[in-house]
Amino acid sequence: VTNTEEGLRDMTQLVATYPQGFKFWLGPTLPVINVCHPDIIRPVLNASAIIVRKDDIFFSFIKPWLGEGLLLSAGDKWSRHRRMLTPAFHFNILKPYVKIFNDTVSIMHAKWQRLASEGSACLDMFEHISLMTLDSLQKCVFSFDSHCQEKPSEYITAIVELSALIQKRGENILLYMDFLYYLTRDGQRFREACRLVHDFTDAVIQERRRTLPSQGLDDFLKAKAKTKTLDFIDVLLLSKDEDGKQLSDEDIRAEADNFMFAGHDSTASGLSWVLYNLARQPEYQERCRQEVQELLRDREPKEIEWDDLAQLPFLTMCIKESLRLHPPAPMISRRCTDIVLPDGRVIPKGVICLINILGTHHNPAVWPDPEVYDPSRFDPENVKEMSPLAFIPFSAGPRNCIGQTFAMTEMKVVLVLTLLRFRVLPDDTEPRRKVDMIMRAEGGLWLQVERLEA
Ligand code: HEM
Repeated sequence: VTNTEEGLRDMTQLVATYPQGFKFWLGPTLPVINVCHPDIIRPVLNASAIIVRKDDIFFSFIKPWLGEGLLLSAGDKWSRHRRMLTPAFHFNILKPYVKIFNDTVSIMHAKWQRLASEGSACLDMFEHISLMTLDSLQKCVFSFDSHCQEKPSEYITAIVELSALIQKRGENILLYMDFLYYLTRDGQRFREACRLVHDFTDAVIQERRRTLPSQGLDDFLKAKAKTKTLDFIDVLLLSKDEDGKQLSDEDIRAEADNFMFAGHDSTASGLSWVLYNLARQPEYQERCRQEVQELLRDREPKEIEWDDLAQLPFLTMCIKESLRLHPPAPMISRRCTDIVLPDGRVIPKGVICLINILGTHHNPAVWPDPEVYDPSRFDPENVKEMSPLAFIPFSAGPRNCIGQTFAMTEMKVVLVLTLLRFRVLPDDTEPRRKVDMIMRAEGGLWLQVERLEA
């Protein structure tokens, strides 16, 4: 199975033929179990996170960057950190970020207005949107404004480069071995970019520690929360485990770097593909726009607030249907400890399990006419009939995505304001999907954007 458009079509064909799952071999000796049906996924994803580990081959490339953060850690360390970090995504913390999302997407739109000054422009959604998601993450995680959407930022450029280098390394099996990789020019660049990113995060933490009182931290941050937005660094500094122990600076750095990595490309992919699907289906795009115009009818300036997010039923259905058809994280993997399947068969210990999110979402045994973009699948009436594991863009179970509300919130704000200000139209050539860790398009995802009168 390859990760090109043709490879993905072949994979979907295999899923249609073997709708529960199938085994394939990675090289001559490594069996991989591909699972693509809710009944089989359930025991794998719901198994305790302590016994089912992430598959480490897959993640070893990112480890020097992300360290022992949530994404890659396991066992006790992971469960302690997961408990400590969960409050960071409480809606009280997320609520003020809505203002940041409004402002950050408006910077991108100002650029689009200039580029489309003749009326319309053809733009690579991935390029523009991932810069914007990085900008908003940097503001939410560090309260740092690098103006990266308007001028180059060393830190943001380093993250873009790290992501590209990991993608490139994944394509060349010779470079899987560390000692070879770090001899190459790319390997050295990877090291340098890692250092730059770590230095940035360390500096923010040190600076924050300097300005924080050593006593009465809790009271200080609670007072700050009343008047200012708490960023993730504040929340991480504040968090304590059951024994009252705090995270070390190294832990905080790893978690902040994890959020930057896990949050930017995935959200940018989600948004780019929603815009693509709405460009392909102008009637749905128009219906979303009407919903948005209705909601913001008497409001000036036209900004989205937290309470609006629940008032966008059709737009929300359109986002979910796009996450089904084009899941930003198409596959995740686990290394199992004897998982018993519903029919009694056992996935033996140590075998790599590929949880094929894309395959599940395109499985005709799970979704009728899987290739059709149809938001009404997510009509509350229809959702009742659906297995909770039929739709898993954020995974499920104890190791699901901790950032999913953050991501849905940002996607809604961005989509609302984009549809209010622009019409999106397909480009002449159909994009070809390309999967690495996330769902991309070969050569970028190009769409026409047309200015709408305010
Ligand atoms: C549309 C956007 C997003 C999608 C589709 C997505 C999807 C996922 C998926 C599928 C996983 C499970 C990975 C695995 O098991 O290997 C995951 C984990 C994770 N995500 Fe997200 N994600 C998104 C946005 C975000 C954002 C915005 C953040 C942070 C601000 C974030 C932070 C994380 C973290 C820290 C984990 C690891 C959780 C753990 O293992 O305890 N994600 N995400």
